[in-house]
Amino acid sequence: MSRRVWDEVDSYIEGLLIGEDEVLEAAISASAAGGLPPIAVTPAQGKLLHLLVRVHGARRILEIGTLGGYSSIWMGRALPAGGRLLTLELEPHFAEVAGANIERAGLSSLVEIQVGPALQSLDRLCAQGGDPFDLVFIDADKERTPEYFTRALELVRPGAVILVDNVVRDGALVDPNSADPGVGGMRRFHELLSREPRVSATTIQTVGAKGYDGFTLVLFDPGGAPAHAAPASG
Ligand code: SAH
Ligand code: DHB
Ligand code: MG
Repeated sequence: MSRRVWDEVDSYIEGLLIGEDEVLEAAISASAAGGLPPIAVTPAQGKLLHLLVRVHGARRILEIGTLGGYSSIWMGRALPAGGRLLTLELEPHFAEVAGANIERAGLSSLVEIQVGPALQSLDRLCAQGGDPFDLVFIDADKERTPEYFTRALELVRPGAVILVDNVVRDGALVDPNSADPGVGGMRRFHELLSREPRVSATTIQTVGAKGYDGFTLVLFDPGGAPAHAAPASG
């Protein structure tokens, strides 16, 4: 099974289930024109984020890693009236491109971009003690994923969903000797999950136009699982 087939299947899915979308395509073109790296989620993954927001009925979303705002637009479009999405981005130029893309999508009143190192923004949010988030999407510098996840647990309501992108990295997740600090981050993240009694989580491996990777879905469930559910932790 080759990368070419994964691309073709993604094109097939896009053709039938997603279709043309001028605003999303403009966001990708403007990001490329602005020199941003082509590492946004794929259309099929963006739609998964969109559907998860709707299935969950999320009203307050936190995103860590904005890039050009592509995933922000997918999730922002799933919000009900009065919903909010706060997205954190290190690079001022990326944030500027994202702001224009989000404006073009008509989402500027729902989406706020905070520029700076995400850890600083998260610590400020923790100190402020505002309304909790219903859903968090962690998709920034991979080596800091465990730190972002620890902060996210402080910022969400019981029953919240935390999604983490790029957790499998071509299978390197299972290589304890990987030289990639991002892989180390994802291994530490999984070890954290395995010891954290307040969550229930799983990781799904994926293939597609962005290669072989995966995402983790976490339910923040501090009351514990229903009595008839078997797994105790993780
Ligand atoms: N979620 C985006 C892709 C994000 S790519 C999408 O799917 O459309 C990862 C982003 O994280 C990049 O824009 C990068 O600049 C940002 N990033 C890297 N380190 C960061 C940090 N310390 N704080 C905040 N953002 C960071
Ligand atoms: C890469 C991919 C991503 O989805 C991301 O968020 C960051 C980096 C990459 O392929 O390098
Ligand atoms: Mg990603």
